[in-house]
Amino acid sequence: MPRPERMCQADPVKQAQRLKAVRYDIRGPVLRRALELEDAGHQILKLNLGNPAPWGLATPEPIVADMIYNLRSAQGYSDARGIYSARVAVAQYYQTQGVTSVQPEDVMLGNGVSELIVMALQALLDTGDEVLVPSPDYPLWTGAVTLCGGRAVHYRCDEDAGWQPDLDHLESRITADTRAIVIINPNNPTGAVYSREVLEGMLDLARRHGLLVFADEIYDRIVYDGAVHHTAAALAPDVPMISMGGLSKTYRAAGFRSGWLAISGFTGRDTDYLEGLQLLANMRLCPNVPAQHAIQTALGGYQSINALIRPGGRLHEQREHAWRQITAIPGVDCVKPEGALYLFARLDPEVHKIHDDERLIIDLLEQQNLLLSHGTGFNIDTPDHLRLVFLAPVDVLDDAVARLRTFLSTYRQ
Ligand SMILES: Cc1ncc(COP(=O)(O)O)c(C=O)c1O
Repeated sequence: MPRPERMCQADPVKQAQRLKAVRYDIRGPVLRRALELEDAGHQILKLNLGNPAPWGLATPEPIVADMIYNLRSAQGYSDARGIYSARVAVAQYYQTQGVTSVQPEDVMLGNGVSELIVMALQALLDTGDEVLVPSPDYPLWTGAVTLCGGRAVHYRCDEDAGWQPDLDHLESRITADTRAIVIINPNNPTGAVYSREVLEGMLDLARRHGLLVFADEIYDRIVYDGAVHHTAAALAPDVPMISMGGLSKTYRAAGFRSGWLAISGFTGRDTDYLEGLQLLANMRLCPNVPAQHAIQTALGGYQSINALIRPGGRLHEQREHAWRQITAIPGVDCVKPEGALYLFARLDPEVHKIHDDERLIIDLLEQQNLLLSHGTGFNIDTPDHLRLVFLAPVDVLDDAVARLRTFLSTYRQ
C-alpha cells in the first residue's frame, strides 16, 4: 500500500542513536533480500534458522496437550517471575544437574531466552561496561550488550582446538571495566561442547576477577557421539551466575517463546543486581502464561530428544550426512559439531578468495536460491566461514549442499 503523503515538512522519524551500533546481521540485509526474492515468486531453501518445527521436528504432543488443557486458566497475568509449578520444575532440573542451591525463588521465566538475555544485561550494565562474549557468538549476545550501553569484548574460540575457548586470550581481554563473561555451551554457531577443563578455567577466571557469568545452555540436551555437557553452575557453585535454557530447541517449541533463567552463587548480602532483575521482570508484568504451562511437562516427561540425537536418530543422521557432504566440497572444511544444530564451515582462503562473506551469501541466494548465514554475522574477524542449519531431512540437505558446491565451483570475488 502506498504511504500517505506527510502533510508538513517534518524531519523524518529517526531511530534511536543507540541502535546505530547494534548489529544483528543474520537477520539483516541477507534476510531482506531473501524476502524480496520470495515476493518475486522464487522458492528459497532456507537453512539459516535454528527453528525445528517447520522441518517436521514437532513439539512433543504431551507438551502441546498440556498447554491446551491449561489455556482457560492462563488468561490472567501470572507472578512476574512465572507460575510456581514451572519454576519448581526448572529448579528441580538444575538440582538434577548438580546445582543443588537453586530453589523456585531463584528461577525467572521469560518469553524465550532472548528476552531474558536482554533483561539480564539491562539489569547489569552501565555505559562503557564491558562483557566478554565468545567469537564466534550467537549474535544476540553482542547486540544486546551494545543495546544496553555496554561494550562486547570478544574472546577467541580456537577452531584448531575444536572451537574451545582460548583461556589465555580470554584472560588478556579482562580490564577494570569488565563485568561479566558469556559462556554459550553447547555453542551456536560452532557446535562445540566445552571440556570440563576449559569450563573450569573460564569459571576460575570469573572467580578471580569477580565477574558475573551468563551461561547460555539452551542446547544442553542436544549433544552427539557421547559428548558430555557440563552445567557451568554445578562446577562453580560459589561464582555468581545466571544460567539460561528454554523450550525452543530441545522441545522444538520455538514459537511458544518459553525460557528460563536460574540464579546461583549469589551470597545473602549480594542482592543489588538481583533486585534490578526483579524490577525489570515486574515491568514486563509476566511472560506469556500459556507457554509457561508447557515447562513442567517438558522437563519432567519423556525426553524424546534422546531418540533424535542417538545414532539412527534424525538429528544425528542429518548432522553426520551434512557434515560428510559439506566437507567433500573442494576447499571446504568443518569442525564436526558435538552439539546443537549447526555446521560452521570454513572456506579455505587459498581456494576461495572471499573478502566479503555477506556478499557471498547474497550471491549464493540469488544464484542458487539457497539461504545460509555468513560467518562475520557471528562476530568473527575473517570472511571465511558460513553456517548451515542441519534441521532439514537428508534429501533436502543433499540438495542444499549440491547447490553450494555448484556455486563455489565457479564463484569469484
Ligand atoms: C545460543 C542461543 N541462545 C538463545 C537463543 C534464543 O532462544 P529463544 O528461542 O529461547 O529466545 C538461541 C536461538 O537460536 C541460541 O542459539
